[in-house]
Formats: sequence, structure tokens, C-alpha cells
Amino acid sequence: MKRQVRKAVFPVAGLGTRFLPATKASPKEMLPIVDKPLIQYAVEEAVAAGVDTLVFIIGRTKNAIADHFDKAYELEAELEARSKTELLKVVRSIVPSGVECVYVRQAEALGLGHAVLCARPVVGEEPFAVILADDLIEEDSREGGVMSQMTRYFNKYQCSILGVERVPLAESDKYGIVHPLPFATRLSNVDGIVEKPKPANAPSDLAVVGRYILTSRIFDLLTNIPRGAGNEIQLTDGIAALLSEEQVLAYEFTGRRHDCGSKLGYLVATVEYGLRHPELGEQFRAYLQSCQFGDSTLTASPPISNPSSLRGEVDADPL
Ligand code: UTP
Repeated sequence: MKRQVRKAVFPVAGLGTRFLPATKASPKEMLPIVDKPLIQYAVEEAVAAGVDTLVFIIGRTKNAIADHFDKAYELEAELEARSKTELLKVVRSIVPSGVECVYVRQAEALGLGHAVLCARPVVGEEPFAVILADDLIEEDSREGGVMSQMTRYFNKYQCSILGVERVPLAESDKYGIVHPLPFATRLSNVDGIVEKPKPANAPSDLAVVGRYILTSRIFDLLTNIPRGAGNEIQLTDGIAALLSEEQVLAYEFTGRRHDCGSKLGYLVATVEYGLRHPELGEQFRAYLQSCQFGDSTLTASPPISNPSSLRGEVDADPL
């Protein structure tokens, strides 16, 4: 019988040092892009791919994620009393019916590989997805979300699949880089994988980003690998061990990725999603167009007291 991906693991227990102090009491995955936290975009991508069990690996800021996905009785009663039906719908649909949330504590941030291993008691023997919510990937209008694209290939090939993207070689030391052997359009057989290689040692320019489908064999392997780069248990090292036993594919997904783990990537994503926002997009575009670009500086115009007054003055061309 063909196996299907029903469970998704969301490691959200990292220290998020690049966003301190914002991440002191709340995980970076709770940072909003316009009006939705990063983790919710990730959950929506997983649910669209057919996932029905969401496994959150939570850390020291454990309450924020659980509170976000929990039922909020008081808030709902208040919105109901104020006849805010649209907002009530938004709040109630955060977790679709039939989808279950499970929380597992990673007591110490010992690395992504260790965070994934913490999911073992919930995942068991099934294949599962791993989604790093700080890699926000826009849905492709024809192919759907990245996880939907990957589960389609999992259904066909029944093996582990890594979401990969071409990156400038100069940036190879920020990623796990695969050594690919041609397999099919957009798919390669992974022959090797190296964590954060220097450009001269990178086996290719194909970087693993925050999307994985893994078989449960990875758990045994993660249990036995020693600590790697940064004295952490690296998922990349577990995958390196996995591909000596099983087929592992790399899939070049379609869809634009925003690295929201970095401040610049986060700001760019905020601008892009803001421009496309159904309620705010038009006003936000007008605001940005009213900013003056100098040679090396961008000077914001004085604050707009009545942004709607900008309507009608807007040039409809994209920036
Ligand atoms: P990062 O490498 O981005 O680390 O983790 P970080 O701690 O979140 O952020 P910085 O680099 O200090 O700013 C990649 C993903 O793995 C999770 C993180 O939450 C993030 O989704 N993670 C990392 C864990 O859940 N546990 C860990 O021990 C390490």
C-alpha cells in the first residue's frame, strides 16, 4: 500500500538570536508578515498538502505557539458580542476542523536534527514533512504550495524528498548543499550533502531550504550521529546517513522564497505581502511611491495622516 504524508513537524524551538529582543519571549515563527504569523503561513501550506496532524517542537517560549492555535473562548465571545463576524471567522479558521495539533517540548536547543528527533513519539513509523516556517515560500499559482508539490512526488516515488533552490555559490556557507545526480525534470538523486560548505568545496549550487519529506528511518540515524557544526545535532548529518541506505531526492520547487530568519529577508517579505494585501495593498503602494529615493538613501515622506487621501493619485504600475 502506498504511504502518504499525514503529519508535519514544525521546529519552533530555536533561540532566534538574529531577532533579539523581539524573540526574547516569543519564537521568531510568531513574527507577523502583515497580519499573520509566519507559523500560520506554514500550517496553511501543510494543510493544503493533505496534512492532518501538526507537530510543533516548542522551546523555552512554549506558550505563544500553543496559544495561537488554541481555541480562544473569551476572544470569540467578545467578537460575537460586538458582531465582528468576519474577524470571528478569521479567528475560528486558524486550525481547520479535522486537523489536530500536538506539542512536544525540546528542553534544550540542541539543533534542528535534535528538534526533529523530538517528534519521534508522535510520528512513529510514518513518513512525515518538516517545515521551517522562517522560510516563507509563496504559493505558485499553477503548482500550488511547495509542500503540495513535494507530496505529489512523494506519492509517486515513496522516498525522502528535500526542497532545494539554486543559490549564489558565494552563499553556500549558509546552507546544506547537495551533490545532485540527474533523475527527472526538477528532480535529482541526492548523492551527497554537506552542511555550510565554503564555496570552493560546495558540491553544487543546490541548497536545501526549509522543506523536507523524510522517512521514519531518519530517527534511528539522528539518535546515533554525534554533534556536528556549532556543537548541534544537525539534520543535514542525519540526511547524509540516510542517503547511504535509501533513495533521497532533491526537488527544485517553484515559488519565491523569503528568508524570514534574516532581518532583510523579513522586511522584503513584509513589503511584498503588504503590496498584495487585499485591504492595504493599494494604500501601501501609494505610500512607497511617495517615498523619495536618493542615490543611496530612501527617505520616507512625512507620516500620512489620512492614507486614503492618496487614493486616486496612485500610478497602477508595479514598483
Ligand atoms: P535556525 O538555524 O534559524 O536557528 O533554526 P534559530 O535559533 O531559530 O535562529 P538564529 O539563527 O539564532 O537567529 C532553523 C529552524 O530550526 C528550529 C528553529 O526554530 C528554526 O525553525 N530549531 C533550531 C529548533 O527548533 N531547535 C533547535 O535546537 C534549533
